[in-house]
Amino acid sequence: MNVIIRADYEEISREAANIISAGLKENPKTVLGLATGGTPKELYRRLVKEYKKGELDFSQATSFNLDEYVGLGSENKQSYRYFMEKHLFSHVNMKTGNIHVPDGLAPDPQLHCMEYERMIAKAGGIDFQLLGIGSDGHIGFNEPGSSLASRTGVVVLARETIRDNSRFFDSEDQVPRMAISMGLGTIMDARKCIMLASGENKAEAVRKCIEGPLCAMTPASVLQMHPDTTVIIDEAAACKLERRDYYLWLEKTRRKLLYN
Ligand code: GLP
Repeated sequence: MNVIIRADYEEISREAANIISAGLKENPKTVLGLATGGTPKELYRRLVKEYKKGELDFSQATSFNLDEYVGLGSENKQSYRYFMEKHLFSHVNMKTGNIHVPDGLAPDPQLHCMEYERMIAKAGGIDFQLLGIGSDGHIGFNEPGSSLASRTGVVVLARETIRDNSRFFDSEDQVPRMAISMGLGTIMDARKCIMLASGENKAEAVRKCIEGPLCAMTPASVLQMHPDTTVIIDEAAACKLERRDYYLWLEKTRRKLLYN
């Protein structure tokens, strides 16, 4: 894993936005894997800003979102579809037909999940998969104990996730108990993964993801087996890393080799 440590939330968002925007400029037909949650908001704001300045074009891009709550439709303000419209889709020139978010109201969710996998394959696979991390180490909604080879499916949220995500709802009771999520195997198929984490409440999950043993109890640790993952974290999220200084030194050395 390539670990990038920056001072704060602003800086990790800038770093991730730069990677995605460079990828999109190089290949306008990029297939993006997108994430929701509090963490990618600033990154999306930066991409929208670049688009509005005329520096970025989404017209040929395709996107697949990681997950969606079962039972919430696009009109529901807590749905991930609504989140994406609000923070990205409604501001940029992506073609509606190229946007994919799992349908929380699909009449046959299992069938929908299989169809979602087929659509990803038909698009040629995901080029950049953006990820956040749950405080219990989940990615997408793949909770501890998930199969490391899982595919898109219907999953049950862990209590910790329900508690964490209740901040976006009026009460904990309103947080859906189930979701549709890309599986860990689906995520691992992406050509490049970019994980963002900010804040001390993510530090333990980040430590287990990067330095812990590869195990289903920390779903994010599966990324240790991914050939091209960049983890971009702020100092607070990096505070429990045993080899923090090494990652900083490594990045500095790489930069020197690349630019000197
Ligand atoms: C949710 C999402 C994840 C996200 C995680 C962290 O559970 N399903 O994809 O990474 O929350 O969210 P936040 O960025 O708000 O901490």
